[in-house]
Amino acid sequence: MIGQGAVSATKTSVVMIGAGPAGLLLGRLLGLAGIDNVVLEQRTRQYVEERIRAGLLEHPTVEMLKFAGVADRLESNGQFDDGFELRFEGVRTWVPTADLTGGKQTVLYPQQEVVKDLLRARDDTGQPIVFEALDVALHDSDTERPRVTYRDPDGAEHAVEADFIAGCDGFHGPSRETIPARLRQEFQQDYPFGWLGILADVPPSTRELIYAHHDNGFAMHSRRSPTLSRLYLQVPPDTDAQEVSDRFIWDELQTRLGTQDDWTLAEGPILQKSVTAMRSFVVEPLQHGRVFLAGDAAHIVPPTAAKGLNLAVSDVSVLSEALIARYRGAGEELLAAYSTTALRRIWRAQEFSRHMTALLHHVPGSEFEARLQRARLQNLVKSEHTMAAFSELYVGLPFEGHPERFI
Ligand code: APR
Ligand code: PHB
Repeated sequence: MIGQGAVSATKTSVVMIGAGPAGLLLGRLLGLAGIDNVVLEQRTRQYVEERIRAGLLEHPTVEMLKFAGVADRLESNGQFDDGFELRFEGVRTWVPTADLTGGKQTVLYPQQEVVKDLLRARDDTGQPIVFEALDVALHDSDTERPRVTYRDPDGAEHAVEADFIAGCDGFHGPSRETIPARLRQEFQQDYPFGWLGILADVPPSTRELIYAHHDNGFAMHSRRSPTLSRLYLQVPPDTDAQEVSDRFIWDELQTRLGTQDDWTLAEGPILQKSVTAMRSFVVEPLQHGRVFLAGDAAHIVPPTAAKGLNLAVSDVSVLSEALIARYRGAGEELLAAYSTTALRRIWRAQEFSRHMTALLHHVPGSEFEARLQRARLQNLVKSEHTMAAFSELYVGLPFEGHPERFI
């Protein structure tokens, strides 16, 4: 019984809700294994392709995108980093993350470019993707034949029946709610600050990333291209970006990034500015019946270590392995273990994201805490062991499952 009252009713093996990195990568990996799947996305293609977000790719993420055959542009246009610079009290310390992890580089490559590469790969295979799928609803998710219904922009009803539903619909999507409240645990922490991010029409004043701690707050210098700089400032969480003057932004960046040597920060026209709130969030478990959550639907990290996209990819690595194993006749053991397996790495990344956030941001109020924070920064720059442990988490822990076993 599918789609009572629906004008179209489709059957597939796996239906993904959401065409972000999680849903698109899962669809790609299932497709490579010959498993048919459908992606349903509420927004337009243009919106999805142009949504701008941080883009620091961990080493295992890059390896996964290569494995999925979607890394050609990333390899030619991405900016491969061997480490980053840490600044506090005007002193610069180079943290050689690649050397400390046996050569694992991180790559700056904008998230919307990853999405474009995945969409193009999907176009090439002709697998179905529906944009502007409105009022998406999940039905019978704890039965053998779950179903997803939606409306198209003309108001016609559609239904997709599948073996499994992947909830890749981000933090605000409907999938998480299919886990009954009595079985669902949500863990959340908000931070007393946000990030004001700017895009500036000026060549970066740095070859690699700079993270700075200052009594005025955190600052960061990233880059988007040889002529475009991306910079961030810690601000109060309720800041209205449009109310902050460009002069104030550059003055704060000059102060917080300032060094005792002759390094200078080049200024230029600010093309965009926006404020991001900071939150840590995890839901447990990641599964109910035949619905599996992956990516931002399951967790949110503060942006300091840019782990969001990478965690989505690691979830999908574990989930795709489990789904493909099931279709290869290897049973549902890995699927049953998905939530526990994925959560182990999710919590480790949560811990690192919070650690790096607490290490670098200024929390007014306690001078005792401020002294401890400085001691923690000293511990990091003075000890190669501490730096190596930090680097291992920064470049990305290995994934706990990988579809290569079955593809
Ligand atoms: N119906 C259909 N699609 C939906 C619905 C819905 N009701 N609700 C949300 N979506 C779509 C969103 O429009 C979005 O395109 O789900 C997609 C979720 O994608 P992302 O938010 O990119 O989440 P995810 O794929 O998990 O990627 C995680 O993206 O959020 C960033 O920084 C985060 O890097 C992280 C990465
Ligand atoms: C970014 O370029 O947007 C970026 C890079 C690294 C981070 C966070 C953001 O840790």
